[in-house]
Amino acid sequence: MSQVENSNLWWKNAVLYCLDVETFFDSDGDGIGDLPGLHEQIDYLAELGITCLWLMPFYPTPNRDDGYDITDHFGVDSRLGSIGDVVELIRAANNRGIRVIADLVVNHTSEQHPWFQAARSSKDSPFRDFYIWRSDPPPDTSAEVVFPDQEGSLWELDEQTGEWYFHRFYKQQPDLNIANPKVRDEILKVIGFWLQLGVSGFRVDAVPFLIETTGLTADAISGFGEPHDYLRSLRSFLNQRNGEAILLGEVNLAYQHQLKFFGSDGDELSMMFDFVGMQNLYLSLARADSEPVVNALKQRPSIPAQSQWATFVRNHDELTLDKLPPSQREEVFDAFGPEKRMQLYGRGLKRRLPPMLDGDPQRLRMVYSLLFSLPGTPVIFYGEEIGMGENLKAEGRSAVRTPMQWTSEKNGGFSTAPANRLHAAMATDGFGPAEVNVVAQRSDPGSMLAFVTRLIHRYRDCPELGWGQFEVIDQPHRAVLAHSCTWQGRAVIAVHNLGPDAVKVPLQVPDAAGQVLHDLFGGESCEVDASSATEIELEGYGYRWLRRYRKDDRRI
Ligand code: NOJ
Repeated sequence: MSQVENSNLWWKNAVLYCLDVETFFDSDGDGIGDLPGLHEQIDYLAELGITCLWLMPFYPTPNRDDGYDITDHFGVDSRLGSIGDVVELIRAANNRGIRVIADLVVNHTSEQHPWFQAARSSKDSPFRDFYIWRSDPPPDTSAEVVFPDQEGSLWELDEQTGEWYFHRFYKQQPDLNIANPKVRDEILKVIGFWLQLGVSGFRVDAVPFLIETTGLTADAISGFGEPHDYLRSLRSFLNQRNGEAILLGEVNLAYQHQLKFFGSDGDELSMMFDFVGMQNLYLSLARADSEPVVNALKQRPSIPAQSQWATFVRNHDELTLDKLPPSQREEVFDAFGPEKRMQLYGRGLKRRLPPMLDGDPQRLRMVYSLLFSLPGTPVIFYGEEIGMGENLKAEGRSAVRTPMQWTSEKNGGFSTAPANRLHAAMATDGFGPAEVNVVAQRSDPGSMLAFVTRLIHRYRDCPELGWGQFEVIDQPHRAVLAHSCTWQGRAVIAVHNLGPDAVKVPLQVPDAAGQVLHDLFGGESCEVDASSATEIELEGYGYRWLRRYRKDDRRI
């Protein structure tokens, strides 16, 4: 293995942790998590081993969409702290080897953004053209809305000026007109501003919508240019300001369309979430059959060397199953969220993984082990490391945005405010603070927290998983997924049993001659016989990570 680290490509084997400042730790007892509170907990994150913190929007907002409706992209929500607090947090994180990325939400603003307030005040406003307007009644767009429980159209009539404005998401979030060079300049300034304050890049919200031309006039469309050129220009600006910074894009499209967003030379998004892989993983879990996830991984296109897939099993939104055909979506609903109150928008689940698996610790660990062993860079959502559940009584996506559970005490130690003043109610139904919390798990070597910490550290020891060549290893059990990731002459072989019954897996180890397999969790080694299959035993929902290396290689 080369001793020359390509540190510029840090995201190729990073561990990302997503959190919302509002729900992490409240330092001043007002019921809302804040930046000083998060700062206090930075050593918790360092001990867990994450290498990059993704902060969900922390900007001033009327909070109609959990902060994704922004009124000032250059500011900080005063309930959370100040710009100074962000800088201190970034510095504290960096000092512990953790980079910070922020959400870049520039497809739209809040309707309360001063630009929109000015734009709607008159058709002659210099800001009118910051947004997308039409004067004639819009066609029926009800089938295209993103949040069908709240919206019936992509256009909203503005009473004052008698024209309709375009909004991909809620009507409180008018879309910016990206064809307008002034808007483009403002977006660059936002990127430049936060880079200057120390972020290592951005998670970019709703990228396909950001570069779409829907709703624009023919003139505006021709002024827009080629949408991917625009994305390329954002990346180029970003890396001119900071060569190590990344754009991690939210692009929930089929692989063949998604691929384009990496750019032909890897010059658009640096990373993208693997929504298709995630959805097929749930189908595989529901069926105890590795085929769906194997097929997805085989179909996943190869990408430029410096690009990366971000793998995940949970994010802050509904667990969307929109890329599965209806019958397969129903299978996942039946297995993991059969009641209507567990489902959302007819396409997703408002549950976290532990309750979906009835709290089965072995199965839960197997899923995270599988996630971390998949080729790519894993992203976890706060609380996954302790096995937090959800609050199904909470409205919509808020069900999975409950406060972090630090202790078994009142409010899970998140806040000293009266429970009715908390920003969000705690998780319930056997997964609340009494059952699931950091303090109890910290002192228990058998806990979920101890397991995830180990997993993160193992992943970081295994550059093969972020950089390597992925291959499925054939074996006879449907419930089993065996795969290898090979890089610079070494390989990690992972074997996962998605089913409840113990199995013996005959494994034909690729390039086995003269090689040894070392169990990365159990610590034992065994020599591999190149001429026959090596038998790997797995209990129900069992998992093994094995490093294959040369007998004379002393690095394990
Ligand atoms: C995608 C984000 O993930 C979601 O939470 C948000 O509601 C929409 N974009 C609108 O910003």
